[in-house]
Amino acid sequence: MIDLKNIEDIIIKEKNILRNKSKNFRENFSKIEKYILSEIIKIEDLKKNNKQIIPEIKFQDLNSNTEEFEREVKQKGCVIIRDVFEDNMMDEMNKNLENYIEENNYYEDQKKKADLDKYFSELKSGKPQIFGLYWSKTQVQIRQSAEMDVVKKWLNNLWINKNKDEVIFDPNQELVYADRIRRREPGDSTLGLSPHCDAGSVERWIDKGYQSVYEKVFADKFLEYDPFNASYRNKTQEIESPAVSHVFRTFQGWVALTQQGPGDGTLQLIPIAKSMAFILTRALMEDVNENELCGSKPARALSVNSTYHSLLLRGLVSIPKMNAGDTVWWHPDVVHAVEDHHSGTGYSNVVYVGSTPYCEKNLAYAQKQSKKFIEGKSPPDFAAEDYEVTYKNRATIDDLTPLGKKQLAL
Ligand SMILES: [Fe+2]
Repeated sequence: MIDLKNIEDIIIKEKNILRNKSKNFRENFSKIEKYILSEIIKIEDLKKNNKQIIPEIKFQDLNSNTEEFEREVKQKGCVIIRDVFEDNMMDEMNKNLENYIEENNYYEDQKKKADLDKYFSELKSGKPQIFGLYWSKTQVQIRQSAEMDVVKKWLNNLWINKNKDEVIFDPNQELVYADRIRRREPGDSTLGLSPHCDAGSVERWIDKGYQSVYEKVFADKFLEYDPFNASYRNKTQEIESPAVSHVFRTFQGWVALTQQGPGDGTLQLIPIAKSMAFILTRALMEDVNENELCGSKPARALSVNSTYHSLLLRGLVSIPKMNAGDTVWWHPDVVHAVEDHHSGTGYSNVVYVGSTPYCEKNLAYAQKQSKKFIEGKSPPDFAAEDYEVTYKNRATIDDLTPLGKKQLAL
């Protein structure tokens, strides 16, 4: 385990190791920077001409997609899959969720426990309308649906899941990762979320597993680096903290419960799958203090900021208008944010979902998670707010389908 007392010394030492993997770390960074710039220019051109930036596909076309489409998804690291659920079904699920929140007095509870969750506290915009609820029937039904099973298998299969003879995960068997919901009122001006990545901040530089994931990036082989190769992604070790993900997700994502578009306090992405190479090698440059990593702190979200990453931030785009039942997915290395202001007219509500295929790491988590499910507590990755223990109409084991039970490792 990483000893946080010595974190600055560890950073200094590991930065040196990482620099020495390259013949010339400055030149290596400069090559990566050039690639990022060319991707940014493409994004800016598309934006100027009002063209589609994030690849999109309809649910019904998923299994007849083209190789070219998959290539685009892999380059951009994100995809919108539309019409996964019927609008009517989503309306009903949205209402059920609203009732669940109201009949259980969530807002009162939340005021009492608000400071338990510090995950986003280093980001400039740190008060999202994210609810610490995990086990409503709406969430559980979405997670265990046959539709999500199809979507997640498709997403998992975009990855290379083997390292020589070692099978890293099974793309066709899914475990579920219980996550929260986001609900933003129209006119909401509490801040959104600044650009960040989950699944590790300083770990990405100092952890041996992550160093293997990014070996090619540091060792002058950026062109050969494939963010969709899962090798060593199951070997990473996170710094212990509430609210940092301890699973391997092939994609993070959400399902829209309501219609929402740019300006409605929605998601923003930097659609470049290899962005992490830029973030990692940027921190090795000499204008960054030796004991720092461009603002990334242990046990917090990885920070992407204008001091060090202004080039990358030019590529931040709001996702297009989403309808209820549409889904959006992004690679765990893709930088994302939530717009600061909701200037639209309706609630913008989403259920977060992650794609967590069957592997040892995810199974170990799922087993811990299932205990929390039974007790109605917050899952192991999240602050122990445990709002739902006494909640009426919480999903229980009786609400699980056979697939749902399998996905929860029950
Ligand atoms: Fe995030």
